[in-house]
Amino acid sequence: MTLARTGDLVGGTGAVLAFNVITLEHAEGIADGLSAAGVPGILQVSENAVRFHGGRMAALVAACREVAAAADVPVSVHLDHVQDLALARQVVAEAGRLDISSLMVDAAHLPYEENVATTAELAAAGHAQGLWVEAELGEIGGKDGAHAPGVRTDPDEAASFVERTGVDGLAVAVGSSHAMTTATARLDHDLIARLAERLPVPLVLHGSSGVPVDGLRAAVAAGIRKINVGTALNVGYTAQVRSYLAGDDKVTDPRKYLAGARDAVRDTVRDLAGALA
Ligand code: G3H
Ligand code: ZN
Repeated sequence: MTLARTGDLVGGTGAVLAFNVITLEHAEGIADGLSAAGVPGILQVSENAVRFHGGRMAALVAACREVAAAADVPVSVHLDHVQDLALARQVVAEAGRLDISSLMVDAAHLPYEENVATTAELAAAGHAQGLWVEAELGEIGGKDGAHAPGVRTDPDEAASFVERTGVDGLAVAVGSSHAMTTATARLDHDLIARLAERLPVPLVLHGSSGVPVDGLRAAVAAGIRKINVGTALNVGYTAQVRSYLAGDDKVTDPRKYLAGARDAVRDTVRDLAGALA
């Protein structure tokens, strides 16, 4: 396959799954899982992951691109949760060289008018480079443990936000929360339906690891078109590493325990993609 473009994967009547990449094994496991399920998807690299790798965004994106292009299904590469405006501007300026097709501008922590102005500026600049631009309105709880999980996106405010910023997709606060290790979140499906009815752009669900599969199915039926998953991959990845190390206190070659971690990512992605297909 050739590298897909996010704008071609989001929309229609179903939702595309977007998975967070931290290590190369994540990217490989995600691509293998999507290929096994026969379902397109998105590899996404967050600002936090870029920071973890010493700011080497181009190297991370290049690795994801190579893995995405080798998958048996269409897979695109996305920059996720970019709060650092300097990094967002860099992504836009280097979009051609990075060969990515989408970016999430995460300015939801800013006062409303600043979120609008910042997002509008980056959406216009991103569009000039052919990027699909996602933004967030109504902070989705849990990220960095700092945000309140009770916040909800108001449909009227969201409609005005989309019109004023020109974004292509909107992350909405509808009951999910980042970094949950159990799937116990209950979404406000009525609110999702009202937002989908009111907004002319695809809705994005963040913190989807905390949502049970039937809740995700209902969210798609109500209008969610992109489902972001990160923590669920790490639960399986880390459990495999932990179990391998517990059974072998002599091992030194990381390939021994990372192979199982990569397989765990693949299985999580394959099972979720299969369950939602
Ligand atoms: O942007 C990434 C997602 O919102 C991932 O959230 O780690 O809670 O699944 P999660
Ligand atoms: Zn998120």
